[in-house]
Amino acid sequence: MIRFIEDPDERRKISRLVLESLTDWFEVEESRENYIKESADQPFWAAVDNDEPAGFLCLKETGNSTVELAVMGVRKEYHRKGYGRRLFDAARDYAVMKGYSFMQVKTVRSGMYEDYDITNKFYVSVGFRELEVLEEYWDKDNPCQIYVMNLKSAINTIASRHSYRGRFLEEPVPREDLEIIARAGVNAPSGCNKQTTDLIVVDDPDVLARIKSLIDPPVAQTAPAMIVVLSRRINAYRDKCFATQDYSAAIENMLLAIVELGYQSCWYEGHITDDDRICDKIADVLGVPEGYGVVCVLPVGKALDDFHAPSKKPFGERVRFNHFGD
Ligand SMILES: Cc1cc2nc3c(=O)[nH]c(=O)nc-3n(C[C@H](O)[C@H](O)[C@H](O)COP(=O)(O)O)c2cc1C
Repeated sequence: MIRFIEDPDERRKISRLVLESLTDWFEVEESRENYIKESADQPFWAAVDNDEPAGFLCLKETGNSTVELAVMGVRKEYHRKGYGRRLFDAARDYAVMKGYSFMQVKTVRSGMYEDYDITNKFYVSVGFRELEVLEEYWDKDNPCQIYVMNLKSAINTIASRHSYRGRFLEEPVPREDLEIIARAGVNAPSGCNKQTTDLIVVDDPDVLARIKSLIDPPVAQTAPAMIVVLSRRINAYRDKCFATQDYSAAIENMLLAIVELGYQSCWYEGHITDDDRICDKIADVLGVPEGYGVVCVLPVGKALDDFHAPSKKPFGERVRFNHFGD
């Protein structure tokens, strides 16, 4: 389990426990003590196994668009169990949510020491790319490899998108951002290019309040904007209608644009299309004409609360190469 640790003393305790068990990497006492001291004031995640710290990671802001993976370590007995990747995922989600564009990390260049070769491989496997080697940054026996990652790449945005059901900050979403999000929606592919999806962007507080009052049980009540997704059941060819696929592609595009711009959302479809047909009531409020159905609402806003990434089945349980079985 990955936990965000708030308490500075707990941060110091965990980083000491982990780093002192990893002297192959953190051999020099002075720099180890420095990592421990600095970790107390940095965003800090611990990987926990039965209440035992298995590892930790902390981040440091190095510019208004850049964050550094300041230090991470996983105790040797927990290596190759996915803790490092899960720690990294939590830190990356946080960095994307905070609006950073790049993440950097420094390590000893590969080809010098076996242990650091493993570290280099790990960073590349989570998506870092080589930026530069500074031969003399530490000393000539430890050339400093700087890796960088574009946090706003499609792949990272996809990885950091999670359904957000918490409260939103009150600040309005600028029209320019709402337009970018809506454009991402209508730019989605559609079967035979029938473009069966339309959108109504709602940022007027009175209209928003009327929509929210219809949603029962209430969700997204603090959202400063919502995108209402409309669909038309037009056949692409013969009796083939791809309207569901069309609006699904549009919704996913918008969810990704929302995350890339630093906002959060959730795909609310089941909630509004159930037997009580909240969707039809929303359509009435918005004056949606005959032939269009409201299929989904997407709140848009900055998150006030933390979110929890849902657990996904292991990759290997769902993805196979070349054949279904072994
Ligand atoms: C077709 C569809 C309908 C959904 N409807 C709802 C909904 O009505 N309410 C809700 O809270 N989440 C809804 N979701 C979000 C899912 O619950 C969510 O995607 C899933 O739990 C996985 O979590 P993740 O989005 O964080 O990966 C819907 C998702 C899809 C694709």
